[in-house]
Amino acid sequence: MKMIEVANLTRKFGGFTAVDSLTFTLDRGEIFGLLGPNGAGKTTTVRMLCCLISKTSGSARIGDLDTSDSDDAMKIRKMIGLVPDNVGLYETLSAYANLEFYGRMYEFPEKQLKENIQKYLKMLDLWDKKDSPVGSFSKGMKQKVSLARALVHDPEVLFMDEPTANLDPEAAKTIRDVILDLRKENRTILLNTHNLDEAQRICNRIGVLKTRLIAVDTPENLAKLVSGRKTVILLEEMNNKVLGVVRALNPRSVETEGNKIIVGMADPDRETPAIITAIVSAGGKVRSVSETGASLEDIYLHLVRE
Ligand SMILES: Nc1ncnc2c1ncn2[C@@H]1O[C@H](COP(=O)(O)OP(=O)(O)OP(=O)(O)O)[C@@H](O)[C@H]1O
Ligand SMILES: [Mg+2]
Repeated sequence: MKMIEVANLTRKFGGFTAVDSLTFTLDRGEIFGLLGPNGAGKTTTVRMLCCLISKTSGSARIGDLDTSDSDDAMKIRKMIGLVPDNVGLYETLSAYANLEFYGRMYEFPEKQLKENIQKYLKMLDLWDKKDSPVGSFSKGMKQKVSLARALVHDPEVLFMDEPTANLDPEAAKTIRDVILDLRKENRTILLNTHNLDEAQRICNRIGVLKTRLIAVDTPENLAKLVSGRKTVILLEEMNNKVLGVVRALNPRSVETEGNKIIVGMADPDRETPAIITAIVSAGGKVRSVSETGASLEDIYLHLVRE
């Protein structure tokens, strides 16, 4: 059975179309990343799937339930967990009390609720802080409580709206590790992100969204689409002679940014040494050479050009 089934899902705000005719499905146990820039419609999509806002047209089903049926919507709310884009916890209540409150709202059995609260607060390194009011927590700690809240009632389907936004690398890694553990438990997860690297690390499929779904594929295939490794050469000083010799070697693309020359190549392993040799022969002083992967922008540009 498909756990999430979306067909031609559309949402308009007045005359403005925020989400245009999305179609995709998720099997049980999949982690699907909705990848898109600010304003792409990621949050709007998740809100529709969680029955928080209505759709304008199309359909969205969670398991065998229909998001636009009011009885089904009640059942959907109980079987899903949401990490919203704004944390939205009770600041005066402790971490523990917040989780207890939400778990009871789902009418989740008390004994299992207590076990789950303990399990997730420990997993997220918050057990020591369980009795402190959430208002005294840092952003990262609040985000972890928000993740625990989405999990306390053992939902089969999880929606996470940029769960690692604004977190330091360590906190982001803790959250990513928990998500990867959930994948082992065969839960179905839809994750919003504008971080290509994050999507590649945790998702088994990615939908590239910009109001419409531009592409849906595995991270490997999306990366192949652009094969966009670029070499960044930082010079002591930029000069036209050096730039001339780089261009003369006819790489796929040449851009400059301050004292950097950014060179796109079909085969960087073979071409980079030749380019560096040419730069040095032309009197260029190379400070460093590094590589960047395909960026989200590269993928968009590629897909939009198609
Ligand atoms: N309630 C609303 N009323 C009017 N316009 C809205 C409303 N909610 C969202 N929009 C518009 O819909 C578009 C998509 O917004 P949405 O929040 O879904 O984007 P997003 O992909 O989640 O972006 P971000 O990465 O910034 O969170 C935006 O142009 C936004 O201004
Ligand atoms: Mg958003």
